[in-house]
Amino acid sequence: MAATRTHRVAIVTGASSGIGRALALRLASTGYRVGLIARRGDRLEELVLEIESAGGTAFAAVADVGDRAALHRAFRDVEDAIGPMDVLVANAGFGMPTHLDPVNIDDIENTFRVNLMGVVYAIEAALPGMLARRRGQIVAVSSLAGDRGLPGEAAYCASKAAVNVYLQSLHADLRGRGICVTTVCPGFVQTEMTPLDATLTPFIISADDAARRIARLIDRRRGGVHRFPRRMALLMEIVNRLPDFVLRLIMSC
Ligand SMILES: NC(=O)c1ccc[n+]([C@@H]2O[C@H](COP(=O)([O-])OP(=O)(O)OC[C@H]3O[C@@H](n4cnc5c(N)ncnc54)[C@H](OP(=O)(O)O)[C@@H]3O)[C@@H](O)[C@H]2O)c1
Repeated sequence: MAATRTHRVAIVTGASSGIGRALALRLASTGYRVGLIARRGDRLEELVLEIESAGGTAFAAVADVGDRAALHRAFRDVEDAIGPMDVLVANAGFGMPTHLDPVNIDDIENTFRVNLMGVVYAIEAALPGMLARRRGQIVAVSSLAGDRGLPGEAAYCASKAAVNVYLQSLHADLRGRGICVTTVCPGFVQTEMTPLDATLTPFIISADDAARRIARLIDRRRGGVHRFPRRMALLMEIVNRLPDFVLRLIMSC
């Protein structure tokens, strides 16, 4: 299995922790050469060493995904080092509560800059090469939170909803051009961005489990939207039908 992927290249943004780190390790262990992008260079270098000591190939580049020029430079550096990318995983993102009085506009702008424009800039960097080669897969890590505006999470939910719709259009636009577009919507995943209180995180899964599911979608070149785990996706379908006041009551308990 690994042999077929030995010459393939995957670039993962947000690879310094959580889902991105677990996915980079998994892809490397199945034969991908992996490019790692995030801001914490020390974490990325540790991951490069871990991958190389297991016999894999990795290259790290530091960039803020919301800084278009820096991100494009990072993609160029990675591709120069390990080759043109077959798979892009635009995973970097973060969550920050949205306040009303006063409105925390800097945090809101930053949420859109990183969670939405970070994905858009990464795709912008990946597309020319993939279009020229008529081959590639674009994966964005969105969230089940993109399906509904949740109390206190306006900016995060809206940024993920925008990612979902952006990729939905790309999925249609790129049909027949050799490029598969995959939107991944996890429920709660145990990472640095998740609250420690387990009652707030029903059906939580590990970062390794999330990475395994995403790697399978990449392996099978499955396009479209994929929500998991199934029980959390079903719960969100119910939540999506609740009136706002019921949802507010539940979330304030
Ligand atoms: N954990 C969950 O419950 C959950 C659920 C659904 C969706 N997600 C999504 O999954 C993705 C990964 O999150 P995670 O749960 O694995 O959390 P995490 O452990 O906090 O990882 C977030 C990653 O994104 C990177 N990142 C954040 N801001 C960045 C920026 N401005 N520029 C470059 N990299 C940046 C971080 O690296 P640096 O800090 O080193 O830059 C880190 O590698 C996010 O898009 C998140 O919204 C998470």
